[in-house]
Amino acid sequence: MAAFDVSVIGELNLDLILYGLPQELVLEREHLAKELSITLGSSSAIFAHNFALLGNKVGFSSCIGSDPFGEICLKRLGESGVDISRVRRLQGKTTGLSVILPQRKQRYILTYPGIMYEMTDRELDLSYVYGAKHLHVSSYFLQKALRPQLIEIYRKAKEAGLTTSLDTNDDPEDRWSSEISLLLKYVDILLPNEREACKLAGTTDMEKAIETLSQKVPILVVKRGSQGAVARAGKEKYAGFPPMVDAVDPVGAGDSFDAGFIHQFIRGAKVEDCLKFGNIAGALSVTKAGGTEAFRDAVHREAFLRKNSMPLSPMGRSTPGASR
Ligand SMILES: Nc1ncnc2c1ncn2[C@@H]1O[C@H](COP(=O)(O)OP(=O)(O)O)[C@@H](O)[C@H]1O
Ligand SMILES: [Mg+2]
Repeated sequence: MAAFDVSVIGELNLDLILYGLPQELVLEREHLAKELSITLGSSSAIFAHNFALLGNKVGFSSCIGSDPFGEICLKRLGESGVDISRVRRLQGKTTGLSVILPQRKQRYILTYPGIMYEMTDRELDLSYVYGAKHLHVSSYFLQKALRPQLIEIYRKAKEAGLTTSLDTNDDPEDRWSSEISLLLKYVDILLPNEREACKLAGTTDMEKAIETLSQKVPILVVKRGSQGAVARAGKEKYAGFPPMVDAVDPVGAGDSFDAGFIHQFIRGAKVEDCLKFGNIAGALSVTKAGGTEAFRDAVHREAFLRKNSMPLSPMGRSTPGASR
């Protein structure tokens, strides 16, 4: 019996979101935001938090610095039910922080990576990591020191019988190194968004990107914002759409989508049902500020899932259905 449904190795930091700033930011002027939200940020933590609240057991491997921001992250993550016993506090180090400035359609994202740039496999308890059914890593490019070691970690995870997934997210250095191909050999599900898929495949043509990447992994899922997502498994093609929602904030939508998709995948669901639940989870995420607020609000979350016909029992488990 695996101790966890999913092991997540990744970063842990807060998102500080300033809403309603003027469109143009001018040096030396003081700009007033209309609202401030301080929430659990970072792709890995948002994924783990929301995946746990869908009713899964999650073991989180990470590091924080010796600062109050790290402690707030840890408390928030722990409240979702994620096991945080393997998050290490490193003295004299600083936890990362993202400052997000949403504009009308797009957003500025200013990130201090902090400890996530430095974490290596020395800080990880790998037997704990392998004691799950599935391994997921987000923000591949932000795990600067760990990145080369991930190939061996994924290889051993596969050897230990885990299934695996990877959401690269953006490469802040815009290099998109081809080294990732070595890791993809051990990845079962790759989950980029459209832009990331094109960058990873070295093309501006989405169809070509899908063709190239789908030859490297058994399941490729490409997320397309309000247009939903497409998937490829070998020659099979799938497309899924999210329910219509009043979108408040896209932060964390992709990570929430991953949580919904993998929730079904580890239960042996068909790709179309994984896509369906991925889209529902992604859409739920955009209904509130930040990447975790819509999931944290249990009444809102349950009502949304019920309305979109993927009800969760009081235990948080999906009710059995055709997709299980
Ligand atoms: N405006 C929206 N309305 C409904 N669902 C959305 C919306 N934006 C995103 N989603 C859902 O979230 C998923 C991921 O969003 P996307 O922006 O493509 O990923 P990322 O956050 O990684 O860039 C989409 O595939 C979709 O299911
Ligand atoms: Mg993303």
